Amino acid sequence: MALKLISFFLCALIAPNLTGEDTSLPAPQNISILSTNMKHFLTWSPVIVQGETVRYSVEFQGEYERDYANESWIPICECSLITATVCNITEDISATVAYNLRVRADVGARRSEWGTLKGFFNRITTSLTPPVMKVIAAGYHLLVELEDMGPAFQFCVLYWKKGQESRMQQKMMKEISSVVHLDTMEAGPDYCVKAQTYVEAINRSSSFSQIQCVRAQGSRSMWLVTALISSAGFAVAALILPFLTWKKSKVFQYSCCPDAVLPDTLTVSEPPTQLILCGSEEAEQCDLMVCVTPSEEVLRLVMPSEEVLRLWIQETL
Ligand SMILES: *[C@@H]1O[C@H](CO)[C@@H](O)[C@H](O)[C@H]1NC(C)=O
Ligand SMILES: *[C@@H]1O[C@H](CO)[C@@H](O)[C@H](O)[C@H]1NC(C)=O
Ligand SMILES: *[C@@H]1O[C@H](CO)[C@@H](O)[C@H](O)[C@H]1NC(C)=O
Ligand SMILES: *[C@@H]1O[C@H](CO)[C@@H](O)[C@H](O)[C@H]1NC(C)=O
Repeated sequence: MALKLISFFLCALIAPNLTGEDTSLPAPQNISILSTNMKHFLTWSPVIVQGETVRYSVEFQGEYERDYANESWIPICECSLITATVCNITEDISATVAYNLRVRADVGARRSEWGTLKGFFNRITTSLTPPVMKVIAAGYHLLVELEDMGPAFQFCVLYWKKGQESRMQQKMMKEISSVVHLDTMEAGPDYCVKAQTYVEAINRSSSFSQIQCVRAQGSRSMWLVTALISSAGFAVAALILPFLTWKKSKVFQYSCCPDAVLPDTLTVSEPPTQLILCGSEEAEQCDLMVCVTPSEEVLRLVMPSEEVLRLWIQETL
């Protein structure tokens, strides 16, 4: 309330002391409200005066001013003598009550009458859009990322195992910390997620976002298969490589199987650049290069060794 009073006096000081209304200057028309996700804007059609810049001022009246303050109006400081035909009234609509709004035009020493919004505006009528949502499978973890819409917004997130819609689970989120963990997934089935926003101040919810489904990545069974195939590869390599080494030139041995490469390949935590390229959009470039998966790489570079295989499986699992 104190803030509002200060703002009133500030605006009163800033506003030029014009006298009387000029009926030749029409009041702004088509005054309407655009309100989405608790952000409210008053708009109006421009008043056209040839060769002049028209300025607009906006005032509001809440339930309190109407009923207990002698129907007084409060100027919106940010929208005092502006040239735009839109005013951000979000800060001023601070309660879920009916507001009156009005706007007038100024040109030089001429001032129009007030044009008033038809009917009242109540923020309960704001249109709520479903949240922007990203569902992520990080290994066995089902994660969700929701757009931060501000402190007034909460999110109701529903998630379920595909085909088990009746056993839907629900999570209410008040504070959005970039990514939220929903559940631990089983390998195999898809997990689906949808979310809606909820605004406590008006006790209303948006519709639900589009359903997004993911499944657990890099399941243990997959790694087992990889490991088995790899060990088969090692067995073959164990037979063929010494033969090739013996048969072909020494260059082959030094370029493909130098001793120094062995520990590096196994301990490097980041995949080689070639591997990154394979996963990115640069698929065309990728085709020109030799793309290798980790298991292939190990097979190509490493001399067969039970110890090495065990180490590698430990690291990848
Ligand atoms: C008000 O809006 C209507 C339709 O959008 C338009 O035809 C009319 O010209 C507008 N009035 C003014 C004063 O701009
Ligand atoms: C209320 O407004 C009327 C005229 O609009 C004025 O005569 C009266 O003094 C005002 N009362 C108060 C308490 O401001
Ligand atoms: C309108 O005002 C609100 C509250 O001050 C602010 O959060 C929002 O970004 C503003 N919107 C625009 C488009 O200026
Ligand atoms: C919110 O609205 C629901 C109906 O949509 C109602 O059951 C509930 O009591 C309301 N809660 C509050 C706090 O007004």
